[in-house]
Amino acid sequence: MAETKKLLRALSGETMDVPPVWLMRQAGRYLPEYRATRAEAGDFLSLCYNSELAAEVTLQPIRRYGFDAAILFADILLLPQALGAELWFETGEGPRMSTITGPEGLKALKGKDDIHDHMAPVYETCRILSRELPKETTLIGFAGAPWTVATYMIAGRGTKDQAPAHALRTEDEATFAALIDLLTDATIEYLSKQVEAGCEVVKIFDSWAGSLKGEAFDKYAMEPAKRIIAEMKARHPGLPCIAFPREAGDKCIGFARATGADCVALDNSVSAEWAVENVQKDGCVQGNMDPKLMVTGGQALIDETRRIKEAFSKGPHIFNLGHGITPDADPENVTVMLEALRA
Ligand code: CP3
Repeated sequence: MAETKKLLRALSGETMDVPPVWLMRQAGRYLPEYRATRAEAGDFLSLCYNSELAAEVTLQPIRRYGFDAAILFADILLLPQALGAELWFETGEGPRMSTITGPEGLKALKGKDDIHDHMAPVYETCRILSRELPKETTLIGFAGAPWTVATYMIAGRGTKDQAPAHALRTEDEATFAALIDLLTDATIEYLSKQVEAGCEVVKIFDSWAGSLKGEAFDKYAMEPAKRIIAEMKARHPGLPCIAFPREAGDKCIGFARATGADCVALDNSVSAEWAVENVQKDGCVQGNMDPKLMVTGGQALIDETRRIKEAFSKGPHIFNLGHGITPDADPENVTVMLEALRA
């Protein structure tokens, strides 16, 4: 049967008049119904591990906007927690974790196959979603890329320049590389279960890829992505994979070929024109409108939506933002964007 889901058609390389669309963080604090369900769950992490409510917040933006894809509601930092790291969220600040500073910290972690009891509620969320989503909506599973996840595990929090992770990488590369290997292996097991539970696409978020330069980028951003994608495709033939090497700039050139990704998600630091020439020539791209436009709205939002749609219109494209929609976005602006896009 010919594929009818728009997102899957774009991922298989089809050029469409109106691209499929979804937004990073589409289930999030800008939506009043998300805030209400989060309050019901208690806090963000309790929401992630409450399968019924996590499925509910995943479905909210689909009901409201009819996006072409739903992304599993979870977080990239659940995997380190499943491996034994401590994780909590400081209100108004972000994630906090126990830190890994050397070989002892690494040794204390569990093995790649020991994550599934902890992750059982996440897999259940996938099963609920694959039953309840509209038939035209694609379910995307995800994980953080090993490098990005490692930056949080090493520093114990988000950092501007990922300095603690770079320090471990240069001062104790054996420990650092072993951590990346463990995360790569565990990510494969984690994503495989998401796919078995109904996810149809997987996306790998490498939010801090841009701080790896030269050979370090090849070794710790490209290689792990390549290994994860190769193994996912071996286990799940035909599974489409999206890679998001955020702020990687020129390193996005050839990234799809080098890693086997079916789609490279672009942040908004690169222009659409540049991306068409350099990245879309190799296949599907996703992106890349500035999330700020969802706050400011107006004619600029309409113009920019049309401009990005037009720029990428000669090849396969999934419309999205260059990063997550922010809590101060106006839900009405999403409707304005969708009307401009689908007109
Ligand atoms: O896109 C989606 O809506 C799917 C779910 C999802 C979340 N986080 C939910 C979330 C996904 C795919 C992520 C990925 C994620 N998590 C990344 C990579 C993408 C990126 O944004 O760069 C990173 C680095 C994290 C770690 C993380 N989680 C941070 C740094 C924060 C705090 C910052 C913030 O936006 O509050 C979170 C919290 C988080 N993850 C929220 C959501 C909806 C907000 C939690 C809340 O309700 O307070």
